[in-house]
Amino acid sequence: MQRIFLIALAAFIFVVVATIGRVYMVDNNGGMATNAGSVKLGGPFSLVDHTGKAVTDEDYRGKYMMIYFGYTYCPDVCPTSLSLMADALELLTPDQLDKVVPIFITVDPERDTPEALSTYVTHFHDKMVGLSGTIEQTKQVARAYRAFYQKVGEDGSDEYLMDHSSTTYVIGPDGKYATHFGHATPGDAMAKRLAEIL
Ligand code: NI
Repeated sequence: MQRIFLIALAAFIFVVVATIGRVYMVDNNGGMATNAGSVKLGGPFSLVDHTGKAVTDEDYRGKYMMIYFGYTYCPDVCPTSLSLMADALELLTPDQLDKVVPIFITVDPERDTPEALSTYVTHFHDKMVGLSGTIEQTKQVARAYRAFYQKVGEDGSDEYLMDHSSTTYVIGPDGKYATHFGHATPGDAMAKRLAEIL
């Protein structure tokens, strides 16, 4: 009886610690940043775009990269976020829109091939670029942006979910962090902020 209690207690503590850890990470990424000086996000990456072309961050110099990490099997968080991003893009003037490259980086490269990404991203916006890499490249780029993700489901099964943070990062034409938007930031709020910095 006592043993069952200890196991239950251990499980409870694990859940509490895991929850605090996640809340902390999400909070770390969330919200709209106003103080860019204190945040160091972004960095070089080497990935493949949805047309199958190898690209690096340097290919997007001169443009504002609007980056979101997610995966195409995502039931609702990614579709919501990408729709909001598309809403923001629609509110920009043609000149402003021309300066922006919306980028979706998959955290599930095992299922998200360039072909799968191609169908997915163009559904949201015709300017949207879908990037994927090896598992190692994905880890590296996510780490640079402090994006969190974790596979949730049975080992060896194809039916799994990816737990992931939901932040939209904006990187300036110089490759340096410009701002970021927390989860569910409305399209008009994003467009307003973008118009200030573009
Ligand atoms: Ni998602």
